[in-house]
Amino acid sequence: MNKIFNEDVLLGINKIEDNSIDLILTDPPYCLGKDYGNDSDKKSSNEYLEWTYQWIDAVLPKLRDSGSFYIFLSWQYSPEIFVYLKKKLRMVNEIIWDRRVPSMGGSTRKFSSVHDNIGFFVKNNDYYFDLDSIRIPYDEETKKARTRSIFIGKKWLEIGYNPKDLWSSSRIHAQDPERENHPTQKPLEIIERIVKASCSKNGIVLDPFMGTGTTAIACLANDRQYAGFEINKEYYKVIMNRIKKYNSRPTLFQQQKKMVNDIHSQSSCLFTKTLTTHKCR
Ligand SMILES: C[S@@+](CC[C@H](N)C(=O)[O-])C[C@H]1O[C@@H](n2cnc3c(N)ncnc32)[C@H](O)[C@@H]1O
Repeated sequence: MNKIFNEDVLLGINKIEDNSIDLILTDPPYCLGKDYGNDSDKKSSNEYLEWTYQWIDAVLPKLRDSGSFYIFLSWQYSPEIFVYLKKKLRMVNEIIWDRRVPSMGGSTRKFSSVHDNIGFFVKNNDYYFDLDSIRIPYDEETKKARTRSIFIGKKWLEIGYNPKDLWSSSRIHAQDPERENHPTQKPLEIIERIVKASCSKNGIVLDPFMGTGTTAIACLANDRQYAGFEINKEYYKVIMNRIKKYNSRPTLFQQQKKMVNDIHSQSSCLFTKTLTTHKCR
């Protein structure tokens, strides 16, 4: 597959065969007035919900019976949209992504919002889920502290921690090596976790709102195929460049990723990404 269309998902969706997709990973406009070079995030509440229900109905037939559906949202509209989805799919998790936004001023009449809500839904109970591929290794300190005989040979200590439904990972900030010119680019490590857990190798991931193509890069780096849509011509060019860069130096990309992860897991700075290792408390 590996195809991205520079068009409105509602116009192009029939290019994707029904029952052909293993994972729909979607990060749509949240209706917060962001500037995506179009009015897609500037609808009224009613228009936004109507449009959301329309694209959900258009993409769902593409999902295989064993498939999963993840949607990124914020608290403003996740209640309505989760209720809508629960009429069509089974809800497995609500994952809270803590963006680790540093405390510097912010709201004075309410609590500062630092999370996104990710809904995880499936069509059937026999959905694909590979827990081992996303376990979080314990750090060396924790492993050493667990040398007493009752811990020796414990599988969980060796294969790592089962991720919970609270994911703490810094949003992409201005100096981030992953950063592209887009207001709501998602961190690769979060998208990779979803891709690895919910799509088998060589399976197909559909992202109806590609943005900078984070889903495509996660698929390339993990031997999955991708399909997607992005309406904005400039973002489409960003995606194509990102893919070209990845394809020309995949080994270099993996080395850079390891370096960034090592720095993040050692650093105590506010932007630390914390999906990579876990300290046992
Ligand atoms: C939240 S962003 C996705 C960010 C992406 N996950 C990333 O990591 O870069 C949503 C994207 O949807 C695009 N978009 C909005 N309406 C669309 C439509 N009808 N069809 C396809 N893309 C659309 C916007 O231009 C924007 O880039």
